[in-house]
Amino acid sequence: MTTPAENPLTERTRVVIVGAGPAGLLLSHLLDLEGVESVLVENRSPDYVLGRIRAGVLESSSVDLLTSVGLGERIAREGDEHRGIHLQWTHEGHGERHHLDFVDHVGRSVWIYGQTEVTKDLMAARERAGRAAYYEVADVALHDLETDRPSVTFTDAEGVSRRIEADAVAGCDGFHGPSRPAVPEGVRRTWERTYPYAWLGVLADVAPSTDELIYAWHPDGFALHSMRSATVSRLYLQVPPDEDVAQWSDARIWEALATRLGHGQDGWTLQQGPITEKSVLPMRSFVATPMRHGRLFLAGDAAHIVPPTGAKGLNLAIADVTLLARALTAWLVDGSPALADSYSDDALRRVWRCTHFSWWMTSMLHTTGDPFDEQLQLSQLRWVTSSQAGAAGLAENYAGLPIGF
Ligand code: APR
Ligand code: PHB
Repeated sequence: MTTPAENPLTERTRVVIVGAGPAGLLLSHLLDLEGVESVLVENRSPDYVLGRIRAGVLESSSVDLLTSVGLGERIAREGDEHRGIHLQWTHEGHGERHHLDFVDHVGRSVWIYGQTEVTKDLMAARERAGRAAYYEVADVALHDLETDRPSVTFTDAEGVSRRIEADAVAGCDGFHGPSRPAVPEGVRRTWERTYPYAWLGVLADVAPSTDELIYAWHPDGFALHSMRSATVSRLYLQVPPDEDVAQWSDARIWEALATRLGHGQDGWTLQQGPITEKSVLPMRSFVATPMRHGRLFLAGDAAHIVPPTGAKGLNLAIADVTLLARALTAWLVDGSPALADSYSDDALRRVWRCTHFSWWMTSMLHTTGDPFDEQLQLSQLRWVTSSQAGAAGLAENYAGLPIGF
């Protein structure tokens, strides 16, 4: 069946949410708990969304929030709580590895639990609650955002033209979605930093060779040993920005990881196993302001991107939609617009904190070929691993400040 685009089937809800990644799905869950009806509109299929490999570290405030809204059961059962990270460097043949204990420094931990798993839990909760969602839609467009009757139009998976009218539109459609460009050019401001390197990320079917994540500075470039479970390791190597993944055979990857992560030093060994996925990830910092325009509210990657060092992307999306759900509830249920009015400023406080932290971690750990940079990085690494104040600053930012700080 096809409905002419000029005469779409129209329905009404309170909040139409564009994008069903973690930000959109969690927002619909939080609104549902407050009795605020919403409809999700996503251009991909659920399987595609679940197939994307993303980061795997949850801040303690993300875990607390998910637990407080009934989504903590599988995290507690299958997630892995980490007290901190290992930071290491190798210079002039000498290697040092230090454990930085977040719990000792700031009383908070982090959890290893993949974004894919968070998304799976959110999708299951949506299905249980019978909340509406349109997947595999096309031609998504936002309308009348500066009026009190904004709407979103699209063509659904069956080819039917639809319009959803709402009190508010939540733009949770990631970096490439249509929501951010719907903020007029004269209003929107952007800040951007691209880094002169990228990450080659691999998934390997091998038990992690470490209890907690290892962030390694090495003259050949940064390396990170992360994990997804007791049997799956996630590993990264700093590579040039437009590196062709075909240049990296499995053998070359393992050799580079062994060198940079310090295989053989102080008896530590890197276990190898079959590599099941490899890809190159660009590194970018990006912030768009304001995060609200009229009745459009941006959240997650639609408004900001951080480089992956420090694993802030998902946590920032969770913090955004937590603030947004509170703001929309106060406005649409209690008639109080104050939190909606301050949403952009409130969310941006954390966005800039995480933007700074992920830039700082990235700058400290990635080699640039400049000997002056190298000395500053080594000095910084010595400071955060030997000074209480330096370590506490890193720990507070990594484990995450409370939502709404
Ligand atoms: N119409 C509808 N949906 C769209 C459109 C569109 N035109 N364009 C993109 N989308 C969808 C994407 O398919 C995706 O499912 O919006 C969703 C955005 O999800 P994410 O990119 O995952 O972004 P977000 O939900 O903000 O999640 C935060 O944290 O770990 C980081 O970048 C990582 O995705 C992660 C993010
Ligand atoms: C990951 O496990 O994918 C990961 C962990 C920590 C980071 C970045 C990515 O800083």
